[in-house]
Amino acid sequence: MKPGRFISFEGIDGAGKSTHIEAVAERLRSRGAEVVCSREPGGTELAEQLRELLLHSPMDALTETLLVFAARRDHITRLIAPALARGASVLCDRFTDATFAYQGGGRGFDLPVLTQLEQWVQQGLQPDLTLWFDLPAEVAAERRAAARAADRFERQDVVFFERVIDGYRARAQADPARFARIDALQPPSRVAAQIADVLQGRGW
Ligand code: TYD
Repeated sequence: MKPGRFISFEGIDGAGKSTHIEAVAERLRSRGAEVVCSREPGGTELAEQLRELLLHSPMDALTETLLVFAARRDHITRLIAPALARGASVLCDRFTDATFAYQGGGRGFDLPVLTQLEQWVQQGLQPDLTLWFDLPAEVAAERRAAARAADRFERQDVVFFERVIDGYRARAQADPARFARIDALQPPSRVAAQIADVLQGRGW
């Protein structure tokens, strides 16, 4: 049995990652893999309920952080770990790098506490690959304005999203073997080609 891959997709709101997840799923499926697509916060019944609260109920940064990790714990134990154990690949729209970027960078929450929670909740589990859709905060804001009604995070200003980008950059620098930066300013076909190159380079 081929081992399952755990791939996360990251970037600020409006970076356009969601449209590319299905293409990666199709690519892996065409090579014979079972693929599970999921998202964070969310992915299980409990975690989806927590997602609703996180996106729409006012709360302080510590509450937000604890709920994100509670949702993640349920998602890992009930969905991600069992899928990987049976050899499936898991594609996840956001994972813990989003917590370091949004709660750490955006909200300014204590990074050593995030690191401690990451260790408790994940017990060493990390994505095999993280595709980071990098895009200037101004451009993402224009794309969001054209697209949809904003949730609690999407209502934040450009300065907040610049801090989120800094958070992603710091995570990418700390773990360059796991991260692949995708230039999300490019048109969708070029973004897809960049992703295909990354997967090709890994023999996936
Ligand atoms: P997102 O996944 O972008 O969903 P949609 O495409 O439907 O808007 O939205 C999830 C939001 O949750 C996003 O704004 C980032 C935020 N978030 C955090 O703040 N911390 C986290 O750890 C995660 C996973 C997400």
